[in-house]
Amino acid sequence: MAHTGSQGDAGALSPGQIEEINTHGPYNHAVWTAGGVEVTQEEQLAGRGHFLVERIREVIARHFPGDGLRSCSILDVGCYDGWILHRLSDLPFGRMVGIEPRAKNIEKGRRVREILGIPTRVEFRVGDLDSLGDERFDIVLCLGVLHHLESIPTALRRLRSVCRRLLFLETLCIPSKRLTRGIRRDLELKDLVYFYKDKVFGITGQKLETSYYDGSARALAVVSIPSMESLRMYLDVAGFESVETVVDPERYGATLFKGDRRIHDVCMSARVGEDEGRPRSEEASWVRQYEGGLMRTLLPRPHTRLLYERFCLARRPPIVPLFCRIASSYIRSTGWRTAMLRSLGDRWLADRYAREIFKNLRYAAVDKLGLEYGKELYRQGMYAQAVEVLQGVTRRLNADWRSVYRAFFLLSRLHDRMGIPEGRDRYRGLCQTSNPQFPFDALLQEDEAMEIPDV
Ligand SMILES: C[S@@+](CC[C@H](N)C(=O)[O-])C[C@H]1O[C@@H](n2cnc3c(N)ncnc32)[C@H](O)[C@@H]1O
Repeated sequence: MAHTGSQGDAGALSPGQIEEINTHGPYNHAVWTAGGVEVTQEEQLAGRGHFLVERIREVIARHFPGDGLRSCSILDVGCYDGWILHRLSDLPFGRMVGIEPRAKNIEKGRRVREILGIPTRVEFRVGDLDSLGDERFDIVLCLGVLHHLESIPTALRRLRSVCRRLLFLETLCIPSKRLTRGIRRDLELKDLVYFYKDKVFGITGQKLETSYYDGSARALAVVSIPSMESLRMYLDVAGFESVETVVDPERYGATLFKGDRRIHDVCMSARVGEDEGRPRSEEASWVRQYEGGLMRTLLPRPHTRLLYERFCLARRPPIVPLFCRIASSYIRSTGWRTAMLRSLGDRWLADRYAREIFKNLRYAAVDKLGLEYGKELYRQGMYAQAVEVLQGVTRRLNADWRSVYRAFFLLSRLHDRMGIPEGRDRYRGLCQTSNPQFPFDALLQEDEAMEIPDV
């Protein structure tokens, strides 16, 4: 009985050649065509290859206008049978390299090109992300690979190390709608970075994957699927810039997948900065701004003194102004009252650093208030009292670490201003031992420039 399934146009191929092509299949990620013959098994992914090639061309044209591409190099990591590079080979690249861990996939491309008489100028190498070496390429493609790996951030660091200018990524991703408020709460977005950046977060899903198919993981692994938000964070931290979503999952899905396979893919591009040296990090600048802001900012007077007397000296001041009452209740509060009292207190405080100080008062209140009052006394030029109050923090067993290293900084400054170099140096040493990342010298300059009364 005649086979009725789709056979494409076999054209002038001999039965032996057809068997050979079928032997090397499946051609899931390609549409090899020549002389009226079409070799493809994209199946439910029909159109993906052409769609991707068009998007890659658009992005390249945007980032390398005019003659900018001439003699640039391009690398495709996880290139399968090399079809995508083949479809880009009319562009004036100086070098085109495809890396693929499965020798079978490289051979798959070689045989079909040989049978169809398709020449190639692409260099193919057996290798994977871990064996990329030191050579760098102007453009790096990584298509349909990330979601077959154990560690996406490690992969992106590897890609960053070989990418000189532009990265183009395609991967399966977890829809943004899965990023719920509950997950956001569970993740506790309270690190210092969120003082300076939007409260972004992502999730990554894990699943088991064997190496059984030509397009899957290299070896049995727990592979990771990122959300788009995770990808952006990973790219940013790996040192890429100008991250752009080229095709979002909605457009991708709507354009391509009409069958019953629901695919949620994304295409992204990212740049390597002009200096193209090592990945930059803003971390040191955030730390300097943060510590500087907290050190410089005082809570409104006389509240700090009143709170200090109440919580550190157990005295009950006769008059308790409103902000002080709110702060006292906030420090002691539990449950839903905490958020309410915090937002009430925030209304008194115009400055974001003042709000940060206020927010944190409820954690180790005795030490935090000692530090705040010590800062206030220092700025008023009441040096002896400031030393006494700050040493009340640093000499209390199990004191709050943050209050301790900040108090050490102030104690060093106080001893300097009081003309006691041994004290200045001792407290500087203690501060730097307590927190080696504390930006002592930067804050020293700020402090020296401040209007503080001389004794
Ligand atoms: C789904 S296919 C995608 C093929 C092609 N890039 C495309 O998008 O049409 C995944 C490819 O990644 C390769 N691969 C799997 N693990 C890899 C790794 N650790 N490093 C590089 N490539 C890998 C597979 O062998 C396979 O060729």
